[in-house]
Amino acid sequence: MKVLFNGRLMDRSECAVDIEDRGYQFGDGVYEVIRIYNGTLYTLDEHVARFFKSAAEIRIDLPFSEDELQSDLKELIKANQVQDGGLYLQATRGTAPRKHQYPAGLAPQVTAYTFPIKKPVNEQQNGVSVITEDDLRWLRCDIKSLNLLYNVMIKQKAHEASSFEAILVRDGLVTEGTSSNVYAVKDQVIYTHPATNLILNGITRRTLLELIRKNGWQYKEKAMSKDELMNADEVFISSTTAEVIPVTVIDGQNVGTGVPGPRTKEVQKALEEHILSVTAAFS
Ligand code: PDD
Repeated sequence: MKVLFNGRLMDRSECAVDIEDRGYQFGDGVYEVIRIYNGTLYTLDEHVARFFKSAAEIRIDLPFSEDELQSDLKELIKANQVQDGGLYLQATRGTAPRKHQYPAGLAPQVTAYTFPIKKPVNEQQNGVSVITEDDLRWLRCDIKSLNLLYNVMIKQKAHEASSFEAILVRDGLVTEGTSSNVYAVKDQVIYTHPATNLILNGITRRTLLELIRKNGWQYKEKAMSKDELMNADEVFISSTTAEVIPVTVIDGQNVGTGVPGPRTKEVQKALEEHILSVTAAFS
């Protein structure tokens, strides 16, 4: 198993980061999760662009271009012969004696590796239960930062409640899931939180909104209240690894009739077709 470490391919066992790496000590870094279908990195341009944007937001100056990174990531999946799976990419600010402030000129530590993904087929077909929780995260959720402590705490709580995800609510309004974006359908209109500082603007979210537009389905980027969510006809979540998963139960209460709804299925189908159309050409 090869990994990418600062632009070099090496065996995973050879890759070592320092105990004073700032990602390890402060969560001082950013990351991406990218899906591989058919040996192709899906929506790679968008993921790499967001990676550079997240890094720039926290003033990590990456010492390579987007194109260089893209070709390194392609080399990595070739080296590991991945047809279907995931790629994790991370940059930390670098290594320095532990102090909150950092010296100029640190070398960012950039790692990437591939991992298997089991497509959540059962969840996608039958829907999942979720819980709701207060959104107590910071106010820069638009940055894909390594600081995931609250997300981890709440996802674990959901898991222990036999729920697939927790949907976060800030000031009475639904923001997103701990690792997914959230959508509700009411009277044929799809609602999702606008891409502000309060959510991560998911790459899957952007793809879905594009497909929703192309299909002429009505949608609004508008924050919904928890009540509106509970009374929606359909609810679904999206992410790179989940793709589109219907939510059929929230806090123990059925959404609509308690089965995946028709619009959700149409959105799922549109995404499947898009994935096929942009990855099949390379098989
Ligand atoms: N998480 N919101 C949050 C808080 C997320 O962590 C994620 C993704 C998303 C969906 O983004 P995208 O469609 O670009 O995957 C929304 C990844 C998959 C993770 O942390 O594993």
